[in-house]
Amino acid sequence: MKVLVVGGGGREHALVWALKRSKDVKEVLCAPGNGGISRIAKIFPDIKSEDISGIKELAKKEKVDLVVVGPENPLALGIADELEKEKIPVFGPSKEASLLESSKVFSKTFMKKYDIPTADFRVFDDPVSAIKFVEEKGTPIVIKADGLAQGKGVYVAHTLESAGEAISEIMVKKKFGSSGNRIVIEEYLEGEELSYIAIISDEVIIPLLASQDHKRLNDNDTGPNTGGMGAYAPVPFVSEKLEKKIINKIFKRVLKGLKKEGIKYRGVLYAGLMIVRDEPFVLEFNVRFGDPETQPLMLLMKSELFPILYNSATGNLREEKIEWKEGSSMCVVMASQGYPGEYKKGLEINGLEEAEKEEDIVVFHAGTEFKNGKFYTAGGRVLGVTGTGKDLKETYEKTYSAVKKITWEGFHYRKDIGMRGLKFLS
Ligand code: AMP
Ligand code: GLY
Repeated sequence: MKVLVVGGGGREHALVWALKRSKDVKEVLCAPGNGGISRIAKIFPDIKSEDISGIKELAKKEKVDLVVVGPENPLALGIADELEKEKIPVFGPSKEASLLESSKVFSKTFMKKYDIPTADFRVFDDPVSAIKFVEEKGTPIVIKADGLAQGKGVYVAHTLESAGEAISEIMVKKKFGSSGNRIVIEEYLEGEELSYIAIISDEVIIPLLASQDHKRLNDNDTGPNTGGMGAYAPVPFVSEKLEKKIINKIFKRVLKGLKKEGIKYRGVLYAGLMIVRDEPFVLEFNVRFGDPETQPLMLLMKSELFPILYNSATGNLREEKIEWKEGSSMCVVMASQGYPGEYKKGLEINGLEEAEKEEDIVVFHAGTEFKNGKFYTAGGRVLGVTGTGKDLKETYEKTYSAVKKITWEGFHYRKDIGMRGLKFLS
């Protein structure tokens, strides 16, 4: 089988790595790919993820058996619908189903309609009534741009002033363009965040291990929000009882709702949750794998990835339990200095080989380029150093020992990935 993976981040590197380990997979292609992916698969750097016709032509020309879509943008643009027209199996939901991620208004309204636990909310299309509402409600309060904003369209406001600024940035200054034509204002929830990712095919739900992301730039969850600075799995405070609630109150209700709306769903459904006193509430849905959650999940997965994705894409998925290795895994993201703002590119990365010589370590690449036998930085999140160990503590030690081998001018990483899990265990 020949598989084309769409995307060029750490998540896609991990997916390519896992697909290559599946026995039915003969070849993996990746568009656009990155420096690290180019070492294990053929990449097409000139075909970007959003270039739907370019991807479609490539899939046809290369006669691929399956397209696996990594990021949300091509899904929101309808890549799955386009490939389906060509009868090319695609892992990833349709444009309509992707509204669960690409429109917060759609997603919140859907949750309310199908009784899926989420924070109370109101939708606004003009800033004046939005500000009036915030003044009535008080803070803390959460303000979200309706459309896609690369994970940056959510503001948790602790003062009326910052709430007003958020509304103005989104709706008046149009920081996220038309994604800010409408906003959702919602109740602030306090609890423990959790990423819960499942493979879906029509009515079949196959959950992966629960994981935890670290969205803020700096240690102790301070600094601005980023795409994610590190993740680990499994999460020690997630009990079987909590997982049952997540499946029954969230995933099953989503599938029931989609069926009622006549929307087919094949791909990943990722629920970003806040666990409040052992009850799960949905903060957001994503319609694709998490980045960086996928990196530790792929290292822990014992079952083969390809058959699960292929069966989901072709409607042949059966309920089954994925097998996982014992122990834990974590991914520590190494980023460029300045990320999530501006940063330099083209800096030579040192120490990759030494890091990878460490036991149970895989370095997944995000923003890197491979040129004349060397790796250079090419993005904000550069590497995801991912390790496994017999427990979270050992995993932490092994992963950070590998991280310390890698350097370039002005790198940055968090030193406390997995800390919430470790605190729970201690
Ligand atoms: P989202 O992209 O909707 O997941 O939001 C980004 C981040 O904002 C989340 O990871 C949370 O840390 C925070 N957040 C979002 N919604 C809420 C909420 N209702 N209450 C508290 N924090 C929230
Ligand atoms: N890790 C957060 C995301 O993938 O959206």
